Amino acid sequence: MPAGSGFVPTIDDGPLRMRSVHTRDSRELERVLLDNRPWLQPWEATLPGNEGRWNVRGAIRSLLDQAASRSTLPFVLEWDGAIVGQLTVSNMLYGAVSSASLGYWVAESAAGRGITPTAVAHATDYCFAQLGLHRMEICIRPENAPSLRVVEKLGFRYEGRRRRYIHIDGDWRDHYCFALVSEEVPRGVHARWRSGEVDESVAARPASGPFA
Ligand SMILES: CC(C)(COP(=O)(O)OP(=O)(O)OC[C@H]1O[C@@H](n2cnc3c(N)ncnc32)[C@H](O)[C@@H]1OP(=O)(O)O)[C@@H](O)C(=O)NCCC(=O)NCCS
Repeated sequence: MPAGSGFVPTIDDGPLRMRSVHTRDSRELERVLLDNRPWLQPWEATLPGNEGRWNVRGAIRSLLDQAASRSTLPFVLEWDGAIVGQLTVSNMLYGAVSSASLGYWVAESAAGRGITPTAVAHATDYCFAQLGLHRMEICIRPENAPSLRVVEKLGFRYEGRRRRYIHIDGDWRDHYCFALVSEEVPRGVHARWRSGEVDESVAARPASGPFA
């Protein structure tokens, strides 16, 4: 299904298009981000000690620099041609580690359509099948029920709790870590999900103990 050229593919799935972000997206992206402040802010990464305004164009340039060095896949998510979110594969390491991390958001008006699990599945399949990566990781705040549903639906396996792991919304926040390795999905994440073969229980968190 990947149809684009270069490192960041274009992937279409019905009304959803995943494509590389461009600097010309900065105005539209900034508008969606501003319109969704209360929806996104509790889950947004922040810079410790820096309360400054964000610079969307600068952030896009930085993502494109990282894509040029093959360490990031910076997708925008379009629904019927309008930007509704972003999905970023980052920290891409090759060789003996061959692992990456995945983050995402969609506008409140686009939530609940399955956009994120579809995009996560395609991005992970692309990384495993086309780039030869071996492991994909997603870290989520314990309070983020909608995002926890995304990893459950796709059968990402719970690995543990990282204490005060990422600076989010102004403080260091605990995160649950979930991952998949390529051997777990020989037919692909998207095909496994769509054929109803996901064991959602692998994403369950222990109720107590050191990993809860
Ligand atoms: C988490 C998020 C990316 C999920 O994206 P999505 O494309 O809506 O994913 P889905 O359509 O699969 O919905 C996932 C769950 O969200 C919940 N949900 C659906 N519509 C919702 C809405 N309008 N408002 C809140 N939650 C909703 C449901 O529990 C759904 O699970 P279900 O399909 O089993 O009912 C999205 O809610 C979001 O962008 N939230 C704010 C930013 C964020 O949390 N980013 C992730 C940080 S780890």
